[in-house]
Amino acid sequence: MSCSEPLVDAFQRRISYLRLSVTDRCDLRCSYCMPERMTFLPKKEVLSLEELHRLGLAFIDRGITKIRLTGGEPLVRRDVMELVQALGRKLGDGLDELTLTTNGTRLEEFAQPLFDAGVRRVNVSLDTMDGELFQQLSRRDRLVQVLRGIAGAKRAGLQVKINTVALKGINQSEIPFLVEWAGTHGHDMTLIEVMPLGEVDGERVDHYLPLPAVRDELEERFTLTDIADNTGGPARYVKVEETGGRLGFITPLTNNFCATCNRIRVTATGQLYACLGGAEKVDLRAALRSEAPDRNLATALDEAMRIKPEKHHFRIEKGAEPAQPRHMSMTGG
Ligand code: 5AD
Ligand code: SF4
Repeated sequence: MSCSEPLVDAFQRRISYLRLSVTDRCDLRCSYCMPERMTFLPKKEVLSLEELHRLGLAFIDRGITKIRLTGGEPLVRRDVMELVQALGRKLGDGLDELTLTTNGTRLEEFAQPLFDAGVRRVNVSLDTMDGELFQQLSRRDRLVQVLRGIAGAKRAGLQVKINTVALKGINQSEIPFLVEWAGTHGHDMTLIEVMPLGEVDGERVDHYLPLPAVRDELEERFTLTDIADNTGGPARYVKVEETGGRLGFITPLTNNFCATCNRIRVTATGQLYACLGGAEKVDLRAALRSEAPDRNLATALDEAMRIKPEKHHFRIEKGAEPAQPRHMSMTGG
């Protein structure tokens, strides 16, 4: 494949960051993410590892320089390391960074192979360090494994960023402790507002906690200094002076970060969603499985650039339908 046109959308945003979901399955059942009895996709609908690899290469050819593998939980997919290794070979050859978002339950085992494949940073979801609350929130008893996973990642030389969803009345009072723990262990941390994606068993709005309020609370204990944001991502960062750690705030509901959006997301079935909060999509699986995959993939990516919306429109209200019917575990975190 020759080097093709870079991906630029209708609002002149250069798209350089792909979040690629490798499975919708997960070994946890976080209550804000999915119902206990979650219906997963039939396996035949999910892209094969070869198809995922081929897609990754096609995106790199169109100027994607950063790929994050997500899920569901990417490390529950059998043979996922083959994909990581295959994409890892593009590092320094079109690809600048290959990362992973994981819940950490299997990270202890995978940390070293990930590092060996060229991964240098991972995001690990951790909403609480209280074993009982972890079990209640994720409906599984895995806190010990996750903490071992984080320690193993650090040992292997991976930089770990902790992702924490801020939940009113659930982990709210623990957030200062988590911030301190992350900072003193050398982990960056990002707080996330709960987003209305997919049906869950309870009402998310009951636990929606606006991050500006969290920041006010944190400022009673810590000195937070704004850091000029140069990551291109949606988080606003501060330095926690007491620990030296970095802390990010992702505020999809209270803030709009769409103007600098550089990313697209592809589900495990090859649906490219142009925006996390929108329905606009193109079917890359159909293109991949067609008679002329290269041509049809190129056309589909051009189409994606045409339909990427200018901004998302999240609202969180009692009794309202989710902003999008699909779960985060489908579109990828
Ligand atoms: N709103 C906000 N964050 C969510 N996550 C999963 N579902 C939601 C939701 N509805 C988080 C996970 C993980 C990150 C990738 O996304 O906890 O940290
Ligand atoms: Fe799994 Fe992540 Fe959803 Fe929790 S939030 S159920 S770890 S995909």
